[in-house]
Amino acid sequence: MEKLCIRGGAPLRGTVTISGAKNSAVALIPASILAESPVIIDNLPHINDVQIYIDILQELGATVQLDGSSLYIDPTNISPKPLLNGKVQMLRASYYLMGAMLGRFREAVIGLPGGCNLGPRPIDQHMKGFEAMGATIESQDGALSLSASHLHGEKVYLDVVSVGATINIMLAAARAEGLTIIENAAKEPEIIDVATLLTSMGATIKGAGTDIIRITGVPKLLGCRHSIIPDRIEAGTYMIAAAITGGDVTIEQIIPRHLEGITAKLEEMGIQVIEEDESIRVIGDRPHTYRSVDVRTGPYPGFATDLQQPITSLLSLSRGTSIVTDNIYTTRFRHVDELGRMGAQIKVEGRSAIIKGAQGLKGARVKASDLRAGAALVVAGLAAKGITEIAGVEHIDRGYDMLEEKLKALGAEIWRKDERVNSHGA
Ligand code: EPU
Repeated sequence: MEKLCIRGGAPLRGTVTISGAKNSAVALIPASILAESPVIIDNLPHINDVQIYIDILQELGATVQLDGSSLYIDPTNISPKPLLNGKVQMLRASYYLMGAMLGRFREAVIGLPGGCNLGPRPIDQHMKGFEAMGATIESQDGALSLSASHLHGEKVYLDVVSVGATINIMLAAARAEGLTIIENAAKEPEIIDVATLLTSMGATIKGAGTDIIRITGVPKLLGCRHSIIPDRIEAGTYMIAAAITGGDVTIEQIIPRHLEGITAKLEEMGIQVIEEDESIRVIGDRPHTYRSVDVRTGPYPGFATDLQQPITSLLSLSRGTSIVTDNIYTTRFRHVDELGRMGAQIKVEGRSAIIKGAQGLKGARVKASDLRAGAALVVAGLAAKGITEIAGVEHIDRGYDMLEEKLKALGAEIWRKDERVNSHGA
């Protein structure tokens, strides 16, 4: 079993370049299924979720070639083969195969998605959209079978603001007949990214990035070339890492506007954040000089739930008591006990973590239960005294491109070890 080891204490200094957004990549790759000629996606992050999606597309019959950060996908020979288990159960975003296959073939049989265990993650709003557009859905043996003899535009009001449902409905609607209107749509930058790709493929989409999106279906979409937006969650993680180590880091190739939630909170804590056109510089101090703040997650442009876990690590070292409330995933607190092993003083009450600033963190053996819990432990480990050993590295590898290389270049002492190799002395 692999572990990530960090000897904490070194202030991070230098420049880090942010990769393409994971949550865009895992929607853009299945979106390519809707085209009938090759699509090239640039600025692809090298993460496991992307590799899994590449394998799934190949299994469906696509020709796929990865050249550095560019992915060539020829979806011409894809067939609507049922994908009951295996890779589809390894990631959350496999649900986008439903919208994309429905749009192109009017049918899909897809196993229920996997992904991080963050408590209940229903997909009822995706289904509500597909049904409104004329699809029949049957659930059988852990898979959903969708078909539509006449896939047509419809008005769909989302009962909860959902990134996944907004994108999935947009995918199906791009090749449905007539006008689909998504009301109470999610406004995340990744939604605009998918709409941009679809528009370059020939779709007609208005309002992406607002809460009403209008999609006029077209009979055919063609390939194009598209570059993925920067990963705002990766960028936010490095901003927190800079702050918690009292470092000075410039985070490059980003869209600062996408980071307003985390920028505002760091500034409220008294941390210096300097915004440029395509970069942000975070200049930290000793963490116990930072003010405590309350954080409430919400749909974009609210504070991202995906940064809730990493900012909890930072707040565990600041002055006073902070309350972090997760309104998106109300039980996303599995990192808290692990941070406790490192000396953090955090109590979970309902959907909130109450964090009492501690004098310092100490290295410990901890386990990442999910991707962003892993990020929280990494940033905590960077600030802790001694060595932190993080198990569950596979979760972190799902979403952070070249994490060790990027952190090492900033001066962190971080390495991977294989427990089996070490225990046998090999
Ligand atoms: N929800 C429903 N019904 C639905 C869909 C969602 O009740 O049909 C609820 C969810 O349970 C949750 C809320 O609505 O409480 C928002 O869920 P959303 O659908 O927006 O989440 P998602 O699309 O499944 C994406 C990201 C997550 C990120 C959330 C929120 C991908 C692949 N995943 O998930 O990313 O936390 O949006 O921003 O895009 C991560 O990167 O670590 C991660 C978990």
